[in-house]
Amino acid sequence: MKIKELNLLNFRNYKKEKIELSPNINILIGNNASGKTNVLESIYTLALARSYKAKDKDLVLFNESFYRVSALIEYFNREDNLLMIGSEEGKKVFQNGLEIQKLSDFIGKLNVVMFSPDDIIMFKGGPLEKRKLIDMSLLQISKDYIENYTAFKKQIKLRNDYLKYLLPKINTEEEIEDDMLDILTVNFIDCNKRIYDARCNFLAKLNKVTEEKYRQLSGEDASIKFEYSINFENDFNFYKKRYKSDIQIGSTQCGIHRDDIKFFKNDKDFELNCSQGESRMLALSIKLALAEILKKLKQETPVVLLDDVFSELDKNHQNRLLKMLDKSMQIVITTTDLYKISKESLNNSKVFTIKNSSIKETIING
Ligand SMILES: Nc1ncnc2c1ncn2[C@@H]1O[C@H](COP(=O)(O)OP(=O)(O)OP(=O)(O)O)[C@@H](O)[C@H]1O
Ligand SMILES: [Mg+2]
Repeated sequence: MKIKELNLLNFRNYKKEKIELSPNINILIGNNASGKTNVLESIYTLALARSYKAKDKDLVLFNESFYRVSALIEYFNREDNLLMIGSEEGKKVFQNGLEIQKLSDFIGKLNVVMFSPDDIIMFKGGPLEKRKLIDMSLLQISKDYIENYTAFKKQIKLRNDYLKYLLPKINTEEEIEDDMLDILTVNFIDCNKRIYDARCNFLAKLNKVTEEKYRQLSGEDASIKFEYSINFENDFNFYKKRYKSDIQIGSTQCGIHRDDIKFFKNDKDFELNCSQGESRMLALSIKLALAEILKKLKQETPVVLLDDVFSELDKNHQNRLLKMLDKSMQIVITTTDLYKISKESLNNSKVFTIKNSSIKETIING
């Protein structure tokens, strides 16, 4: 799939912008804080009906009350107009002018894979960053996952609210017998199980393809292993034993919201041993793998967003990365300076300059 045209209204620093993208490579040039990442964020937000880093209200241009992002998407055999309107009150999504009531029917109509220098946080940050990688990927891939994830969030909120409600009522000396808490716990375990199964299956697939990509990108015959470290038990009594401490803390301590992922290269813990360069290679390999998996599952190429990634790569690795991306994929690259981009990437690309919150197509000579 390709984005033919992107329209922004009151999105981050943009009042009103329209850009017609090339089906091949698009390069956005601008100084720091000019709004390059904001353009990629708008595309990502339209794809997943949520930003990867902010709430809807933060996406609205200062002093405005709502934002709009829309795009004309070209698929293999048709075109669709996707629109999202967001504000503090929530969001609405539309396809070809018709409102879509369930977000799960909208997410995945546009598929994206975003590469960012922050990706290496996966190996240094906490479990939250790692789960985010898996969750954001699965949201694009599986409608069931979106629904199960939404149900999980609802269940954990219900259970946590009830735990807080019980706190003043319990006697810490006695066993806790509470039918309502039993029901909430059974429902909670059920939601956990579905998410756990989907994550395990996806992680195994992602691991296999990532290893191939890592070997190709680094030229090294390395073994890469992902290990899903679980905090979830499929056993009611396991949770029942923790009723008292859950109530005292006022939240559910065990479940898929606490799961973690560990990365290994040649059987050594990646987080403890990897260099900056190796982290970057693995982060890129994971995203390349994601693009391939999305393409296979959706029978359409995803749109690839490269946020300032090239400034960290020498020209040789830039070219290797571009070669590894499917030739038919549409790519949007951001950079502060054109000289950071290899000649090969510049050929066949459309260049846009961002200045004073305005985006202009620019013709590059030579
Ligand atoms: N809701 C908003 N309304 C208006 N401006 C905003 C809003 N949110 C962010 N900005 C502005 O957007 C700018 C940052 O944009 P962005 O992160 O896209 O820059 P960038 O070009 O990617 O910079 P860098 O090269 O440093 O990565 C900041 O100046 C910030 O103040
Ligand atoms: Mg940026």
